[in-house]
Amino acid sequence: MNVKKEIARRRTFGIISHPDAGKTTLTEKLLLFGGAIQEAGAVKSNKIKKGATSDFMEIERQRGISVATSVLAFEYNGTKINILDTPGHKDFAEDTFRTLTAVDSVIVVIDVAKGVEEQTEKLVQVCRMRKIPMIVFVNKLDREGKDAFELLDEIEQKLSLTVTPLSFPIGMGYDFKGIYNIWEKNINLFSGDSRKNIEETIKIQDIQSADLYKLIGEKPAETLREELELVDGVYPSFDQEAYLAAEQQPVFFGSALNNFGVRELLDCFITIAPTPRPKQSEERIVHPDEKEFTGFVFKIHANMDPKHRDRLAFIKIVSGVFERNTPYLHVRNGKKLKFSSPNAFFAEKKEIVDISYPGDIVGLHDTGNFKIGDTLTEGEEIHYKGIPAFSPEHFRYINNADPMKSKQLEKGIDQLMDEGVAQLFTLELNGRKVIGTVGALQYEVIQYRLEHEYGAKCTYEPLSVHKACWVEPKDSKSEEFKEFIRVKQRFMAKDKRGHLVFLADSPFTLQMTQQKYPNVKLHFVSEYK
Ligand code: G4P
Repeated sequence: MNVKKEIARRRTFGIISHPDAGKTTLTEKLLLFGGAIQEAGAVKSNKIKKGATSDFMEIERQRGISVATSVLAFEYNGTKINILDTPGHKDFAEDTFRTLTAVDSVIVVIDVAKGVEEQTEKLVQVCRMRKIPMIVFVNKLDREGKDAFELLDEIEQKLSLTVTPLSFPIGMGYDFKGIYNIWEKNINLFSGDSRKNIEETIKIQDIQSADLYKLIGEKPAETLREELELVDGVYPSFDQEAYLAAEQQPVFFGSALNNFGVRELLDCFITIAPTPRPKQSEERIVHPDEKEFTGFVFKIHANMDPKHRDRLAFIKIVSGVFERNTPYLHVRNGKKLKFSSPNAFFAEKKEIVDISYPGDIVGLHDTGNFKIGDTLTEGEEIHYKGIPAFSPEHFRYINNADPMKSKQLEKGIDQLMDEGVAQLFTLELNGRKVIGTVGALQYEVIQYRLEHEYGAKCTYEPLSVHKACWVEPKDSKSEEFKEFIRVKQRFMAKDKRGHLVFLADSPFTLQMTQQKYPNVKLHFVSEYK
């Protein structure tokens, strides 16, 4: 077993986009190339269709599908590719943020007509903060859209990226002729015969050559030459170091639906994308090629069957190898645990695996031991950092609607919070419980799941909170801090880990508070150090 070789051939990444930009379609085409699926349509979209925001069957359907598509692994040209699924729906943004802690790079899909959209902006911002290498794929070139240069500008401005096009479209929409691949120096002609799998790729070593004009016509050839000159003059040339350091982002153009420009993307991706990267723990940086196994939980999925309340905890392997039936230390609770049936995920199925390598994801059956962010090791007491909680957008009091079932309610809330469905805050003043979520949809999910999985009933009460701010006192003994706590007593709460949180009821309150107590630092993220 050559662990170094296994690490070197792994690429673990996520595809992020605003809903409808083509993430599912692109994923499917990548799987087709890997031979992991045989036909288009095999990967079910995990998105919640528009207008279905409060449709329960839809939520349940989504939960079912998302287990199957949580990790899609396949082999392509000797490379083991792990795609981690990220829900596009904004109500599940928190899930996506957490998944981004387990990827080594991302592909950002942008719709050529819509350009940079809101959800893309948010997700890219997180990737930028975490210095995750990004490749941009501009999709739907078979449709009329924005001019390529205009779009590249928009990507630079709105996403604060430094782009370098590695391919360039020849025409667009009705006039779309194909793609010039700057990376491979060839032309890929678009036949317009959609969903066709065969591509015609023609090597063009010199774009000045007369062949170009024969291929695409005089005018388009001239335009392409001018555009490529401009690309050359305006954008920096590709620099792999800069890409890996998240300082430069290559851009590809194509049409996922037509399977066009996807192979180019994939071929370049496996060449330049990072192998599993080292990860910072609270104690030290851990490298993938270290001998001893370490990994962390980035996602927990509850079983949909209420009779079997076991859950699946998704572990990203950071270092060493993970072996079946081997005891590992669950660092938070100090227990050694053995796993007899760790799952690996392939395109359409999951399988029990004996051994997994850094970059891989294993799914472990869990009866309530794991929380998001937990670390497993061979014995070393390390804690992986970087699964922060963001301030929720919605806040409501949660009340017990069935006094006979208060234990069940408590347990249910506790476990759902461990899964990361929402955040719980307990008010300092009266111990009332407040649930904070990213989207309104989660309240229904929680209510439904409490009833169906735990036999508990809850009701909600509105609460006007603008943002949850994690409090960092510069000096907790100072008069200023004491006064802040006293004056804002009604708005102080503890999060699930016991950290102090100020629930600001309006942007105005927040601003005034920051002005009045400059030494009390307020953070919108739970891990701010
Ligand atoms: P998402 O996962 O990012 O939300 O997007 P998804 O792949 O589901 O694609 C959204 C819509 O865009 C789908 O159409 C899909 O067929 C279409 N699409 C994806 N890539 C391309 C492309 O390159 N060109 C064109 N013209 N369309 C593309 P839909 O009608 O919403 O869904 P469906 O009924 O086709 O599944």
